[in-house]
Amino acid sequence: MELNELIKMKGSQKVTMLTAYDYQIAKILDESGIDMILVGDSLGNVVLGYEGTKQVTMNDMERHIAAVARGVKKAHIIGDMPIASYNNVSDALKNAKKLINAGAHSVKLEGLNPEVIRALVSSGMPVLGHLGLLPQTAVDLKVKGKKRDEADRIFSDALELDKLGVYGIVLECIPVGLAKKITDNVNALTIGIGAGVHCDGQVLVINDMLGMLHNHKPKHVKQYVNIYEVIKTATQNYISDVKGEKFPTDEYSFH
Ligand code: KIV
Repeated sequence: MELNELIKMKGSQKVTMLTAYDYQIAKILDESGIDMILVGDSLGNVVLGYEGTKQVTMNDMERHIAAVARGVKKAHIIGDMPIASYNNVSDALKNAKKLINAGAHSVKLEGLNPEVIRALVSSGMPVLGHLGLLPQTAVDLKVKGKKRDEADRIFSDALELDKLGVYGIVLECIPVGLAKKITDNVNALTIGIGAGVHCDGQVLVINDMLGMLHNHKPKHVKQYVNIYEVIKTATQNYISDVKGEKFPTDEYSFH
């Protein structure tokens, strides 16, 4: 989907975004009509089994963006820039181009780094910002912007990102009122995750919304299915069939 079409949705219809990290899931999301797919560096925790996102490399992101891109015909694909890939202007420009070459249509980076964002935007790169809880550098996973000074800083960072020309801003785990104030005062699309209903769009980590992890449900996540139980039951049925010689029957055999 063209970025212009997405930007025009501000104020008229909500933008839908989910993360994806592989070909098959990306294809399902695309065929379901999702507007945007984020190949997030949450790849680190949910797919690669790391504690967080810090260990995710450019090679990881390029491989998974390419896999997602092979499954997508319509949705706008965002490539997340891993930590340390945008420490300075020249790294940011070089690495953002790599993510685009891998199949992303735009890039996302956390926080406010005016020099880097200005350089990316002036080079013609579509940039999605990210404020509030910033997983790459966060010391805890608490809601951000509950205190006045923190809320003021997030608000002024959002205005600054908007002025720098980002096309959107992910707002992660901030109070509903602050997200509304930002949404009402920027031209950029606001995409909320744990930021309430007033954002221009919503994003969730696909593994969270599918209920992939046992006993793990952050407050902001709505689980649409319990895939953990679905996979576990199917696996247990398979084990029982194989052990009991009920699979493969003739139906699944060649003669
Ligand atoms: O990496 C990611 O999945 C993200 C979302 C939480 C927005 O940045």
